[in-house]
Amino acid sequence: MNHFELRQRFSSFWESKDHKWVPPIPLIPVNDSTTLFTSSGMQQLVPYLLGQEHPLGKRLYNIQPCFRSQDIEDIGDNRHTTFFEMMGNWSLGDYFKTEQLNWVFEFLVQELGLNPNNLYVTVFSGWQKLPEDKESILIWKKIFKQYGIQAEVGERIFKYPAEKNWWSRSGVPENMPVNEPGGPDSEIFYKFDSVEHNKKFGDYCHPNCDCGRFIEIGNSVFMQYKKTESGFVELPNKNVDFGGGLERILAACCNNPDVFLTDLYKPLINQLEVDLGFNYSNSDNKKSLRIIADHLKAAVFLIKDGVVPSNKEQGYFLRRLLRRLAVKIYQAKDEVSFEYVKKSISVIIKMYHDVYFKDNNAEDISGIVAQEFAKFGQTIKQGFKKIKDIDKISPKLAFDLYQSYGFPFEITKEIFEQRGQSLSQEEFNNYVKEHKKISRRSMFKKFKGGLADKEEQTIKYHTATHLIHQAITDLLGETVRQEGSNITAERLRFDFYSNQKPDDNFKDKLEKIVNEKIKQGLPVRYEIMPKEKAYKIGAKSFFKEKYPDKVKVYFIGEYSKEFCGGPHVANTSEIGSIKIVKIKKIGSDLYRVYAK
Ligand code: ALA
Repeated sequence: MNHFELRQRFSSFWESKDHKWVPPIPLIPVNDSTTLFTSSGMQQLVPYLLGQEHPLGKRLYNIQPCFRSQDIEDIGDNRHTTFFEMMGNWSLGDYFKTEQLNWVFEFLVQELGLNPNNLYVTVFSGWQKLPEDKESILIWKKIFKQYGIQAEVGERIFKYPAEKNWWSRSGVPENMPVNEPGGPDSEIFYKFDSVEHNKKFGDYCHPNCDCGRFIEIGNSVFMQYKKTESGFVELPNKNVDFGGGLERILAACCNNPDVFLTDLYKPLINQLEVDLGFNYSNSDNKKSLRIIADHLKAAVFLIKDGVVPSNKEQGYFLRRLLRRLAVKIYQAKDEVSFEYVKKSISVIIKMYHDVYFKDNNAEDISGIVAQEFAKFGQTIKQGFKKIKDIDKISPKLAFDLYQSYGFPFEITKEIFEQRGQSLSQEEFNNYVKEHKKISRRSMFKKFKGGLADKEEQTIKYHTATHLIHQAITDLLGETVRQEGSNITAERLRFDFYSNQKPDDNFKDKLEKIVNEKIKQGLPVRYEIMPKEKAYKIGAKSFFKEKYPDKVKVYFIGEYSKEFCGGPHVANTSEIGSIKIVKIKKIGSDLYRVYAK
């Protein structure tokens, strides 16, 4: 099975169950300050999971590119990748556990032909007042029975606590901020018979054992709760949020536990083998090749979605990916040259061309990687120079080298071993672990800040953004085009293209129009309509986004109409007033507005 066929089968399966395709969103969420990256398919559906009406109805599915920055350290084994595609289906208050578990199993076994004997499932064992998921256990027993499998708890169905079988964007129930939706989940694992259990990971193997014998291929979240100040309450809708990694499902279809040997990585690995003179079957090279392949692919996708390497936010993660892979190349080749990855970038683009790269220019992507390599070529030499100047290495210094220059532990160790100095991997790991904890915490903090502030101020800013968009068009004409938008509880930011240059009074004029519209107390409402009709009535759209056949259009009085998922205030008077803080030129014919 190849990835095109898997995509096709997934789509036709969910279409046959009356689901509608939702176009994926970019890896960098637009208008969503709650998170740096899109890391699951449900991200664009949060308002609908919380009860808003979705233009496409109650049954949805898609395949969403995702990036999980917190997994960077795990790359190198057979199954972890920072970039992956999540196959998802959703019920927004329509069907629930019985249909979901039956259909997912039907998809895996009947549609894809996986052997049911190799499938194992997990359920939530309960937490405080949240009950054990007995219902799912009963459903699973019935499902397996249809295939002649007697599914016992502890043998085929495994119960785990919230750390493993509760899903929300912020993890376990106690970490969830107020208003965050979440619920118990039920995961499906594929057991690879070719992998022997490794006792290093525990005496007994089980689905959540880390030895690599079991791989999680899907997760049905029963998103039925919302956290409130006083505990968990049931959501108005009982929703299903399913996600399964496309790469891993493909690996299961090929009955090969190594995702890097599926056709989503193999051509890339082969190209890297040629250009770097590595052999993937050699275990010393394997880990490096996996890291290089993963990081390069993730970098290509991030750049496609507009990220450039920097020391901040998304750009920082892109920089780390590129530098880490450059160190791997330096170790092998004694130089960091773009030539080593040039052809591999083309291979990635070709592999996904019809799915994601029809509108992108491969040269633009290559140019950004080449530039970063050129810069890092200097840094890496300095890093090695710094190593020379260190008299006595310590785990802390090794960690600093790793952080600042992207030097892996092994290489620092090896250099210092030549000088007769040893380095403890364990102590070094403690620094990495501590750092991981901090970055994980800061990721959750992002969610936290964002979701709480979504409530009021960000909704006001969101409506104000529509007013600003229209007012800029009034002032500068129809070539004005939205290029980006970012809203936090503190301010709004709006990027636009215009071939007409804003004049000196532009800021004041813009502020005046927007505040007039606020004062007029214009009603805000939406209509769901076919996409073609929305274009015909002149609703503004965001050219970087792909829209489904039916869309939601928000109207602000007679003044503005725009493709948008919401939410918005009911009347512009709720905004109060808006101050345009700054207009900045950010590129040729590109401008950025800050307002609050
Ligand atoms: N949103 C769920 C996950 O990411 C399906 O696992």
